[in-house]
Amino acid sequence: MDRRELPELVDMPENIDGYDLVFLVFPLWWDTIPKPVEAFLNRYDSSGKSVIPVVTHGGGGAGRSIEDIKAVCSGTVVEKPLEIYCGDIPYCREQVTEWLKGLRKPDQSISRLIIKKQEGRIEEESLYE
Ligand SMILES: Cc1cc2nc3c(=O)[nH]c(=O)nc-3n(C[C@H](O)[C@H](O)[C@H](O)COP(=O)(O)O)c2cc1C
Repeated sequence: MDRRELPELVDMPENIDGYDLVFLVFPLWWDTIPKPVEAFLNRYDSSGKSVIPVVTHGGGGAGRSIEDIKAVCSGTVVEKPLEIYCGDIPYCREQVTEWLKGLRKPDQSISRLIIKKQEGRIEEESLYE
């Protein structure tokens, strides 16, 4: 991928040092991660952290996005992705909730999510009450 094509991201946190685990939620574009998502990964040092990809797609599954995430994030553990077909997005809340619960037992270290949206905004949500 050509780094010169990466868009500038605005309204971003200084760093992600406070996070051990990053949920990376993105739509599959041209069989891989959208450029703003690549810019996000390129911007932060995620070595020693875990990234769990959540990929929405139009039939291509995760495509080659996982390989490309690994290429950008050296030293990062990239976990098995959750793949969601775009037509299922409006109905997937329960599926995603159950999947999240099955990942690990609730503990202090997984108390927050980073959800990266394609518009460049970041939203944080509590994963466990
Ligand atoms: C520019 C663009 C490229 C896309 N490329 C793919 C692709 O290569 N494979 C695929 O399965 N879906 C592809 N899609 C479909 C998106 O993954 C799908 O629309 C998205 O996951 C659903 O989220 P959305 O409602 O934000 O679009 C593409 C969509 C767009 C807009």
